[in-house]
Amino acid sequence: MSEYKVALIGFGGVNRALAQLAAENNAKWQSELGFQLKIVGISDLHLGSVIRPEGLDLNALRNLPTEKGALAKLSGGSIDAATEHVIETSGADIVVEATFTNAVNGEPATSYCRLALSKGISVVTTNKGPVAFHAQALKREAAANGVHFEYEGAVMSGTPVIRLAKELLAGAELKGFEGILNGTSNFVLSSMESGLSFTEAVEKAQRLGYAEADPTADIEGHDVRLKVVILANELLGAKLKPADVPCKGIGDLTLQSIHDAAAANARWKLIGSASRMADGTVRASVEPKLLPLENSLAAVGDAINAVTFRTGVLGDVTVRGPGAGRVETAYALLADIISIHKAKVAQGK
Ligand code: HSE
Repeated sequence: MSEYKVALIGFGGVNRALAQLAAENNAKWQSELGFQLKIVGISDLHLGSVIRPEGLDLNALRNLPTEKGALAKLSGGSIDAATEHVIETSGADIVVEATFTNAVNGEPATSYCRLALSKGISVVTTNKGPVAFHAQALKREAAANGVHFEYEGAVMSGTPVIRLAKELLAGAELKGFEGILNGTSNFVLSSMESGLSFTEAVEKAQRLGYAEADPTADIEGHDVRLKVVILANELLGAKLKPADVPCKGIGDLTLQSIHDAAAANARWKLIGSASRMADGTVRASVEPKLLPLENSLAAVGDAINAVTFRTGVLGDVTVRGPGAGRVETAYALLADIISIHKAKVAQGK
């Protein structure tokens, strides 16, 4: 049995959900997974920060108000986000990075990850920015310090695709993939089919916790572009940067175009894809595609995501599941911690 001391960077929906899962399940995790989580520090731009090496009260965290500086009211709290201080002094074994995604350069999350890894602290993150821009460098930093950098939740939230494809399709001759990789835009398209306006559907996706801080990233395809880069680099050995991938979102699709598609037994879907070409290069794109209803991706509605891996040995392998949501994304963080725990057990640590 182990206990992992974790520091949470960002205390929005996802890390709050992780705290809630720990509050509800620590005893069960201890017996079923072999570890439990103790939260020793939190940093949040809006809420401030707190450090408590003996562990914060998980039930109190569940009910923490969302008002500015709320963490300052806890013992050991400060109005200052003090992220570097929390990473360096909370005594964490694992930093859980879940701040907003910066689709331009992955900062400041990348610097937080790098700092933690350089101090010998493992990092798990759901943040697409550091992974899409700097995965290789961060993995090297982790290896150099004998720790882990894990990011299952960067693509399709808690639905396992990165680790599944990397580990279980490793010998299946992966040639490419195509998928619905953004919950918000898929939710908006489904909602418009049911009669909601574009604006109403986006607002509903925000309320349900699917959308990015700025939902433009969801609607214009930039969020999918980061995920395509992550999958292409990780699984196809590409060296893509987001700017290398042509990207068009769903902003031009009107209620009329959605009704026209339905009349033609088809559906618009925002598709992210990448394929390995005969010359070994990898070509990727993000664009709305009109899919006939019999296409398996056409049936994927609401905030559900799906990705079809094209393999030489198995043919097509499709994984489908939640692609967004607070608890769903927090589950990916738990999956990463399970992976770290298994590696430690295997090394006899
Ligand atoms: N905003 C994203 C989505 C969350 O809607 O899919 C998960 O990356």
